[in-house]
Amino acid sequence: MAAPVVDSEYLKEIERARRDLRALISSKNCAPIMLRLAWHDAGTYDAKTKTGGPNGSIRNVEEYIQDANKGLKIAIDLCEIVRAKHPKITYADLYQLSGVVAVEITGGPTIDFVPGRKDSMDSPKEGRLPDAKQGASHLRDIFYRMGLSDKDIVALSGGHTLGRAHQERSGFEGPWTKESLKFDNSYFVELLKGESDGLLKLPTDKVLVEDPEFRRYVELYSKDEDAFFRDYAASHKKLSELGFTPPSSGFKFTVKNSTLLVQGAVGAAVAVAVVILSYFYEVHRRVK
Ligand code: HEM
Repeated sequence: MAAPVVDSEYLKEIERARRDLRALISSKNCAPIMLRLAWHDAGTYDAKTKTGGPNGSIRNVEEYIQDANKGLKIAIDLCEIVRAKHPKITYADLYQLSGVVAVEITGGPTIDFVPGRKDSMDSPKEGRLPDAKQGASHLRDIFYRMGLSDKDIVALSGGHTLGRAHQERSGFEGPWTKESLKFDNSYFVELLKGESDGLLKLPTDKVLVEDPEFRRYVELYSKDEDAFFRDYAASHKKLSELGFTPPSSGFKFTVKNSTLLVQGAVGAAVAVAVVILSYFYEVHRRVK
């Protein structure tokens, strides 16, 4: 499918959807599952083949019935309520926006959101998302495939500050933190306490304290919430933009009512430069 035209009307619609998502997520207390939806739509990205990623394909039944996505139909249906009011917005943008809003309204960092993602119905085969029963090398295989780093792995795992596991969805049960609707650094604090606190630790959570490279970040984030928020916001933005080149990074010429329009930040700079150069050219011509 083609990329949406990110004009001022689209941007306004994004802001309206953002407000609706805030209201919906706070009234339903569904921030955790909305964040999990955004992550599972994006986390299928394969940097080599440039397939998967945040493209809304998780709404395809073939994809949401996969084992790793059990339970996420709930979040897909909640997003549909907002989408019905804002049909212009792509599913890909809507799911990522809802992840960003989920983090923000539970007290987490503000994450820069750039719209313009294309929708796709091409679902990758099962097996691109991490398996919670495996170890450090599996985590690295999965996240490096997306083009993400060790630091991204640890910072993003901090998303488990929200929500819980459900026996009937993943086979695991319980929350990672005492306040599972509050986005803070307590996931890392609890992780360092070991099994003693009775909170959930998946095998893939435990490897973050066992592997020395991962552990450096766990220790930092458990002591310094600002550092966690800063790195989390950067890693979340990267995850939400895998395989996506924001339209504002270039410029576009369009012809409207026989006028040449230059769009985008670079475009605006080019337009200003052309005006200034023509002025000097004109002055120079008159002086001669
Ligand atoms: C590092 C590899 C990861 C593994 C193996 C993993 C695994 C899991 C599992 C098994 C569940 C329980 C699902 C259920 O039973 O309902 C879960 C839930 C969750 N995951 Fe992850 N996850 C990972 C990374 C992430 C990332 C990167 C994020 C977001 C940035 C995230 C956000 C969440 C949230 C918010 C929930 C709670 C959902 C709810 O309460 O319904 N996870 N994850």
